Amino acid sequence: MTEAELETLRVPPSLSAKVEGSFAYLTIRDRLPTILTKAVDSIHRNKDKFFEQYGEEGVRAEKAAIGLLSKLRNELQTDKPVLPLVDELEDADGWNCYLQRHEELQGEQDPVSWFRSPWLYVECYMYRRIQEALWLNPPISGFDAFQEAKTQSYFESQRAVMALCTHLEGLRKTVAGLPEDQLLEHFDRLLQVSLWGNKCDLSISAGQDNSQKTSPIDSLAELRPFILVDDTRSVWSALVSARERGGPGRVDIILDNAGFELTTDLVLADFLVASGLARTVRFHGKSMPWFVSDVTAQDFTWTVRQTVASNHRFMSESGVQWQSYVREGVWTYHDHPFWTQPHPFCDMAADAPDLYAGLQGSALVLFKGDLNYRKLTGDREWAPTAAFGAVLRGFAPAPLCSLRTLKANVQVGLQPGQAERLSQRQPDWMTCGQYAVVQFHSPPRRGP
Ligand code: F6P
Ligand code: MG
Repeated sequence: MTEAELETLRVPPSLSAKVEGSFAYLTIRDRLPTILTKAVDSIHRNKDKFFEQYGEEGVRAEKAAIGLLSKLRNELQTDKPVLPLVDELEDADGWNCYLQRHEELQGEQDPVSWFRSPWLYVECYMYRRIQEALWLNPPISGFDAFQEAKTQSYFESQRAVMALCTHLEGLRKTVAGLPEDQLLEHFDRLLQVSLWGNKCDLSISAGQDNSQKTSPIDSLAELRPFILVDDTRSVWSALVSARERGGPGRVDIILDNAGFELTTDLVLADFLVASGLARTVRFHGKSMPWFVSDVTAQDFTWTVRQTVASNHRFMSESGVQWQSYVREGVWTYHDHPFWTQPHPFCDMAADAPDLYAGLQGSALVLFKGDLNYRKLTGDREWAPTAAFGAVLRGFAPAPLCSLRTLKANVQVGLQPGQAERLSQRQPDWMTCGQYAVVQFHSPPRRGP
């Protein structure tokens, strides 16, 4: 066993807002209340629409939902105990059992609360409570309080999307006959575009505009030194070896944010299919509004439709192509309640065995973004040199890769001394969103 693997056997504590001044602490103290305020504003701004649609009933629901969200903000800011969910939605029991598990772990002296419990858990819980506040108030139960922010971020990145679709159109025409080394170059480029697309999430900016304004392809060379771990070669090999074994395989993309990031994922998926590196692509999104900008089914279909409707020729042609992939079942969209639960992914095999089994059929699973990285690593205080494969703690349904810009203080798989040098150069390197990783792990091969 290597030093890094041995080091990893000792499971460190979860990141938590207990540590005053930590990024987790500042997120809970400052960023989450701001996000809640923006959700309230969005519901309030739609009051007239609710009245037009549902009459007085809509206005009553708007008031009641805002009341619940204001109460939630107060619980958070005064570090009240985490409460069981009362909405009786399908996943409510699972959440309540999870709370019970934490209560048992923490003991009576130390209630499960916003600033004292694992950050990953309470941050996920906040989004589930937003869902509860709306769900308890029909007829506005299905309202997405982050929809407007997501739509705005999509429109603000239009120039970058046009540049990307123009690049894709050119590539689609020539990709069939390209020699392997050139294919790898294009793959490398579009993987990086999808990686840097992750800069544009609206949770880190507490809902402020964070969209891509310039051509993403032109910025890649400049951004390359900011990729701290680059396992692109291994990702490529996983796809090529699947293709050699039985023809192009299936790629699963665990999506993160709507807006520009989703477009970069669709462009990558298009390239994978057009080039014969993948036969099918399964997209996995969220079944409720999540971490402000995460993709829901509604965002996915809206984005494809919107791209078709564009006045820009290459955007519209890309949209038409994507629509036909969806129609023919080459691309499919899935959501599973596990993606909006607080569990680290090492719990998936036990807590969502159907999802785990489904991923096992994949040639490659791409995990987009920071939150997925936190869940892959369990959001713990790992040493930066701990081995990526080991901190997954048995989670290895298929060859997998994390494409993530760093926005939380968890990072593994670095070289000895690398983290120290980064801290000297830029103390907030783990949370400023300027650095990124392409980190790969493959389960050990079974049989001869
Ligand atoms: O609220 C902070 C946070 O949890 C950070 O970890 C991260 O910045 C963001 O939310 C989510 O980022 P992403 O959209 O990349 O998962
Ligand atoms: Mg996100």
